[in-house]
Parts: sequence; C-alpha cells; structure tokens
Amino acid sequence: MTGPERTAAPAPDAFTLEGVSQERAGRRVLTDLSLALPNGGFATLIGPSGSGKTSLLRLLNRLDDPACGSVRLFGRPIREFPVRALRRRVGFVFQTPTMLSGTVAGNLEIAATLGGDARAVARGHARIGEVLRLAELAGDYADRTAMDLSGGEKQRVALARALMTDPEILLLDEPTAALDPEVAEQLMGTLRRLRETTGLTIVMVTHRLSEARLASTYTVMLEAGRVVEAGPSDRIFREPGEARTRAFIAAGGRNA
Ligand SMILES: Nc1ncnc2c1ncn2[C@@H]1O[C@H](COP(=O)(O)OP(=O)(O)O)[C@@H](O)[C@H]1O
Ligand SMILES: [Mg+2]
Repeated sequence: MTGPERTAAPAPDAFTLEGVSQERAGRRVLTDLSLALPNGGFATLIGPSGSGKTSLLRLLNRLDDPACGSVRLFGRPIREFPVRALRRRVGFVFQTPTMLSGTVAGNLEIAATLGGDARAVARGHARIGEVLRLAELAGDYADRTAMDLSGGEKQRVALARALMTDPEILLLDEPTAALDPEVAEQLMGTLRRLRETTGLTIVMVTHRLSEARLASTYTVMLEAGRVVEAGPSDRIFREPGEARTRAFIAAGGRNA
C-alpha cells in the first residue's frame, strides 16, 4: 500500500500518546498519560476496574477524542486520518458481541457496506471465507443464523467482522469477559495465531491476568487513570518494577 502515512523505516510505534488526559461526564478519568504501543505487538491493558482501560482504548480509533494531549497513529496525529478510513484500519471488538438478525454472512457483509462503495461491498463478499478462516470458524458458519450462536461463536463472528476491512490494528475490550474459561482460552489461542500469521497489531483490555501473561508481548498497567508501568509482558509478570503492579498481580488481578 502507498500513502504518506505508510512511509518506510524506521517503523514507528503503532500508537504514541503524549500528555493525554480525558474526562467523562465532567470527571477526570485519564491523567497526563504517555505511552507507546509497539507496531506488530500484542499489547494488553491491565489494571483495576475503573482505572481507565476502556477510556484509553476508545481513543485509539477515535470513538472518543482526548480532552488534551496527543494521540499518534504510525507517528501521525490520529485526527488527520479520516474517521472512516481510520476505522477500516483500526478494528474494534467489544466485550459483548452484537449480532444482527440474519445469517453470519450478512453480519459480516455489513462491515464492508459501512462506509464502503459498491466495490468495497463486492470485495467484502469475497472476503467472508477468509475472515471465517482467520477467526477459526468453519466455512459453513456463513449460512448459520447469527443470533442462534453460542456466546463464544458470536464473539468469533464479531472478530471476523472486525477483520472484514483487513485492518492493520485490532482493539479488543475484554473480549472474553462473558465467556467460560475454556471458551475464553480457545479465543485467546485464535488471537495469538492471528497475530502470528497476519502480523496484525493487537491492543486488548483484559481483567484475566493469565491472558496478558500468556498471549501478549507488551503489558500496560493502569491505575486511577495513570500508567503505573509498561513493558514486555514477560518482564512485567516476572519482575514488576512497581509495588502496585506486584500487588495487583499477587491479588490475581482483583482490585486491591
Ligand atoms: N460513559 C461514561 N460516563 C461517565 N463516566 C464514565 C463512563 N464510562 C466510564 N466512566 C468512568 O470513567 C472511569 C474509567 O472507566 P473505564 O475507562 O471504563 O475503566 P475500566 O475499563 O478500566 O474499568 C471510571 O471511574 C468510570 O466510572
Ligand atoms: Mg472497561
């Protein structure tokens, strides 16, 4: 692909945040946050409930804009990307998958329809088999009724739907929170393989520390709207540099 935003080396971080603060309903929820998320990595955001993980994730495809500070994507201010183009390049998977009535194929095609022209729709149709494969759903799921699927299957359809636009980055907000542990683990395996085979950059919020430890390459620990520490996951989990991270991990990720 070409374009000024895809210039070659040195490969910038996927996201660079500097001095970011955010408010929701008049309350400060992120404070002077600076952070770089590696391109091609699998980053997880961990931290107590209410620490600002979702608020942070929402800045990364402009579901929200920060109250102040800068967010850069591939080194370029994220506001410079047209929103539709941005959302095609940065997909989002929510905690609870929303299925529309009709078939799985119909649920996938809608992603190509949104903000796309007739060509995009045709390309989308051709892509269904590929995204089902990437989400590790058998091809015959295309004709199944989406609403009748299990929670785990629906989340895979949501994943496949986010992949319809062939994004470079995937954001996931607690994608396994509503799933049984075994189903959650299977989905994490899919995400790991997805990153390994496609080079997709993943940024995921999770409250299951085992997911951050096993699946991610980079971990960001948040507390009260601030970054406590960030670094390679094996280092963060083996020898956290901050007492608050140590305590959070020792408590199994429960609010201390
Ligand atoms: N839509 C909202 N309106 C007002 N406050 C919100 C909203 N969403 C979250 N908050 C508040 O923002 C803070 C951070 O929330 P959030 O980013 O959802 O944290 P986390 O994802 O880590 O649990 C919390 O205090 C929460 O109550
Ligand atoms: Mg959240």
